[in-house]
Amino acid sequence: MYKSLIRFIKRWLPGRDEVSHPRRFARQSVAMLRREYQGKPLEEEHVDPDPIVQFEGWFEEAARAIRDDPNAMVLSTVDDKGRPSGRTVLLKGFGEEGFIFYTNYESRKGKEIAGNPHVALTFNWPELMRQVRIEGVAEKTTEEQSDAYFHSRPAGSRISAAASPQSMVVASRRELEERTRELEQQYRNLDAIPRPPNWGGYLVRPELIEFWQGRVNRLHDRICYTRNPDDGWEFKRLAP
Ligand SMILES: Cc1cc2nc3c(=O)[nH]c(=O)nc-3n(C[C@H](O)[C@H](O)[C@H](O)COP(=O)(O)O)c2cc1C
Repeated sequence: MYKSLIRFIKRWLPGRDEVSHPRRFARQSVAMLRREYQGKPLEEEHVDPDPIVQFEGWFEEAARAIRDDPNAMVLSTVDDKGRPSGRTVLLKGFGEEGFIFYTNYESRKGKEIAGNPHVALTFNWPELMRQVRIEGVAEKTTEEQSDAYFHSRPAGSRISAAASPQSMVVASRRELEERTRELEQQYRNLDAIPRPPNWGGYLVRPELIEFWQGRVNRLHDRICYTRNPDDGWEFKRLAP
């Protein structure tokens, strides 16, 4: 591992000093990271008038091209002073109504959404040189939907969801492990673990969806859909 790192560094910066300080190399070389984007054209004539159908097509391609977590997206929220924060969550469903993810309602994101339900979701699919940006309003999924998804998860994930006061300070990892052990003893039948009331889904109802396709010489394609007053969608090309 270390040898291949050194080989990689030598290829870029043959100076002795840099080789003995791989960390300094990372800071100095980040500006040198560069690639050409040569994605397929994204043209007005070929995009679907419905952005959810367009997303479905792109998501299918992402799921084929990306081995791990094609459904990973950055969820951005704002606090009560308008300060933004972002974190990765997993998309667990989508359709005409919107985009669904699951989390802890009392986490930092949960509290921020309670204060301001306007959120953004961002997918980055580097293998396809594509990005999708979604902006909309988050609402809790129904209890039935949250129950159904909670009970579809492996037992270990259900225990951890119940044991973890997400986003709170904890004294140690051991404390969390003890909480999970206690729950395992309490629920000998792991299928009986109920969904904690503070754990469930959010549905993000989209108001804007933008598709970005990397193109040659950074002259990228951007098609941005917004909801029009009669609840349909219209799209426009944006400059890259
Ligand atoms: C690939 C990946 C997937 C994740 N998926 C979820 C998820 O679906 N739900 C969730 O609550 N946290 C998920 N997380 C953890 C969040 O990024 C974050 O650490 C956690 O939700 C706490 O965020 P908060 O303190 O801002 O509320 C994921 C992290 C990664 C790296």
